[in-house]
Amino acid sequence: MPGQRKTHSRKTASPSGAAAIHEAERYLANTYKRPKIVFTHGKGCVLYDHRGRAYLDFLGGIAVNALGHAHPRLVRTIRREAGRTTHVSNLFHNPYQGPLAKKLAKWSGLDRVFFTNSGTEAVEAALKLARAYAHAKHGAGKMRILALENSFHGRTFGAVSITWPVKYRQPFEPLVPGAEFVRLNDTADLESKFTDSVCAIVIEPVQGEGGILPVSETFWRRARELATQHDAALIADEIQCGLGRTGREFAYQRFAGAPDIAVIAKPLAGGLPLGAMLARESFASILSPGMHGTTFGGGPLVCAVALEFLTVVEEENLLANVRARGAELREGLAALAKKFDFITEIRGEGLMVGVQLSVDGNPYVAEALAQGVVINCTHETTLRLLPPFIVKSAQIKDFLRRMETVFAKTKKPETKTADAAHAESRRARALAAAR
Ligand SMILES: Cc1ncc(COP(=O)(O)O)c(C=O)c1O
Repeated sequence: MPGQRKTHSRKTASPSGAAAIHEAERYLANTYKRPKIVFTHGKGCVLYDHRGRAYLDFLGGIAVNALGHAHPRLVRTIRREAGRTTHVSNLFHNPYQGPLAKKLAKWSGLDRVFFTNSGTEAVEAALKLARAYAHAKHGAGKMRILALENSFHGRTFGAVSITWPVKYRQPFEPLVPGAEFVRLNDTADLESKFTDSVCAIVIEPVQGEGGILPVSETFWRRARELATQHDAALIADEIQCGLGRTGREFAYQRFAGAPDIAVIAKPLAGGLPLGAMLARESFASILSPGMHGTTFGGGPLVCAVALEFLTVVEEENLLANVRARGAELREGLAALAKKFDFITEIRGEGLMVGVQLSVDGNPYVAEALAQGVVINCTHETTLRLLPPFIVKSAQIKDFLRRMETVFAKTKKPETKTADAAHAESRRARALAAAR
C-alpha cells in the first residue's frame, strides 16, 4: 500500500540514499529544488524510495511514465535490444525508425517524422523547418514566430524564446529574434499580430506547465485559418498533452483543423529519451540531406521501445482507460472541491488534470509526499496530476482518499504571491474566453 513502510529485502532497499543526496547536493548544478528522497524503483503506478517506502505516482515523471514503472513489455524490449545494438548512427537504417515513423504518421495524420532526443529538440526542429519553409518560399523577411502567453516549449534557445514566463527567458537574453506572444484564447489579439511576416504559430492544445489550460475551439480554428491564409506553419506542441494523455491519440484531434507540424516526446519511449517532429509533406519536403540532423535521435533501442509503447496503448485499449479513469478522477476532485473552499476549479481532459487552488499549492505537494502521493504544482497555485494510462479505479479512489487527508491536514497558506495572483487573473480571462 503506498505511503506505508514496506519491509524490503536488502536487495531492493538502497543502502546509499543519504550518500546519494549528499553527493547530489554537493556536485550537481543548482537547477532543481528536490525533497530529500531517492526513488530507487517502481512497479506500475507505485514508486519506492531508498527506505523502501511506497508512493502512489500521480505525476508519472511529468507525463513520461504512461505505462507506469517497469512495464513488462517495455522491460522485455529494452533487454532484447540492449543485447543487439543500442546505436548504429543516422548514416544507416535501423530496423525500427521506419516502422515507428509509419505508426506515428497513422496516429497523427501527418506525413513525415524527424526523431530527436528530447521535447525541446523537437521544438527546435519544428521552428527551423517553419523558418526554412518560409525562407524558401517567401524570403528571409517572413521570420516572426507567434506563441501564446502561459506557454512552455523547452529550454534550448529557440524553444525558450517562445516560452512565456520571463524567469525562463530573461537571464539568457538576447534570445532568438522574431518571437512574440499572443494572449491565450484571444482571437482579436491573434488577428492583430498574424500578418504576412509570420512564419509559424506554436500552440499547446492544452497548456501543461501553464496550468492545464485548454485552447478554445474558436481560437484554434482562427489560428488554422490565419496560418493557411499567410502560408505559415501551425505547430502543435503535443509534448505533454499528446500520445494519449487526453484520451485521444493527439489533443488537437478534438479540433476540426489539423496542424502542419506536431512535436512529441515525454511518453514516447517509456522514459528513455526520444522526441519527434511530425510534419505535413508540403513542409517536410523543404528538407534535404544535411540540413538538419542528430547523432543519437531515433536509435534502434529507443525506437523499438516507442513502437512497443504505442502497440501496448493500441492492444490494451488504454485510451478508453484514460478517458474513464480521468472522468472518475475529475468527479472525485469536484466532490473534494465542495468540501474545501480553497479548491476553485478542476480542469483538464483524460489523465491531464489541474486542481486550481486560491492559495499556494506547494505545501499541499509536500504533504502529499508525506502521505505517500507524488504530484506537483505549476504556476504556484495549480496542482498538476498526470498519472499513468494504466491507473486502476482502486488507485484513483486511494488517491482521492489520501488527497482528502492532505487538504484537511495542510495548514492553509495565508496569502498567495503577487505573481500567483497575476497569473490567476490572466488564467481566468483565458478560460472565460474558452467557454
Ligand atoms: C509542452 C512542452 N513542450 C516542450 C517541453 C520540453 O521538453 P523537454 O523537457 O523534453 O525538452 C515540455 C517539457 O515539459 C513541455 O511540457
